Amino acid sequence: MSKQWKESAPSNIALIKYMGKGEGGGNVATNPSLSMTLANFRTTVELSLLPEGSDDAWDPLPGSAPLRRESTQRFLDFFQRLKKQESIHQAFLLRSGNNFPSDAGLASSASSFAALTKTAYTAFSELQSKPLASAEKLAMISRTGSGSSCRSFFSPWCVWEGEKIFVPPSKLPELEDVVVVLDAGFKKVSSSQAHTRVKSSPLFAGRTDRSVQRMQESLSALASGDFKRLAEISYAELWDMHSLFHTSTPPFFYFAPETLSVLRFVEDLWEKENWGPISTIDAGPNVHLLIPAGDKEKLLAKLQENLKFTPKYFTSRA
Ligand code: DP6
Repeated sequence: MSKQWKESAPSNIALIKYMGKGEGGGNVATNPSLSMTLANFRTTVELSLLPEGSDDAWDPLPGSAPLRRESTQRFLDFFQRLKKQESIHQAFLLRSGNNFPSDAGLASSASSFAALTKTAYTAFSELQSKPLASAEKLAMISRTGSGSSCRSFFSPWCVWEGEKIFVPPSKLPELEDVVVVLDAGFKKVSSSQAHTRVKSSPLFAGRTDRSVQRMQESLSALASGDFKRLAEISYAELWDMHSLFHTSTPPFFYFAPETLSVLRFVEDLWEKENWGPISTIDAGPNVHLLIPAGDKEKLLAKLQENLKFTPKYFTSRA
């Protein structure tokens, strides 16, 4: 049995979105982002040494779905870049899998790349008898594979601002993410492609300023425990990012018809009861509803009572 290393990393959901990146490679974001880490949605990566002369290979972990060819290649390319950077010459079998179902529409590069970076550096440090790099350093390495993955190294909240990454102070109670799964199919436009395409939107010019402003306001809302204010900022940011998509040349969109019904439900809830979740949507149709853990059952009951369809729900705590 050859030597093995196994680590896992969580996914995260951004309230202030990383959308737009520099041309030079390395995933240099054009704006700061803020996320909540999703402790229950994880990717596990296992690495084992292959005999000399073999090539690196990828397989799903037992019980996990296979990756698409492009995703496998992206994963292996990144791993090979890390090996080169660290002068590692052995060949490895990489195996990975998510602990959430592949049809949940949650598949994200964040947990995969964070888990790969963590496992790779654990293996490299042992093989080279070197101490493991700090979480900050690993996060910045992981960022070069997939930008959003750098935020998965910190919890429950994480701010990524250029080369800085940190946990902002928060007085909010523990939140849970209720994901309303509306369509779990593969995206027509990947988030990596979206980063390039949004630059053609006439709204892109003010994007950095708007997100910097929202970041400052979000940090104050977190620090003072102002949940409602954070919900307002997150809602504005949701529309900001999706408006970039809708005004690109050519335009593109991710919403399913039911996406709007869920957003309308959340608007009504806040209006009628002055109570509700934080809502946000990534480059996909599913709506993430963040709610204090103690209010989760109440929210699920309201959804069941008000929606005219029955979506799947997946929940994760921070
Ligand atoms: C909409 O991290 O997937 O989820 O750096 O090209 O891998 P790459 O992009 P990725 O972009 C995430 C975009 C987003 C918003 C966010 O998570 O901040």
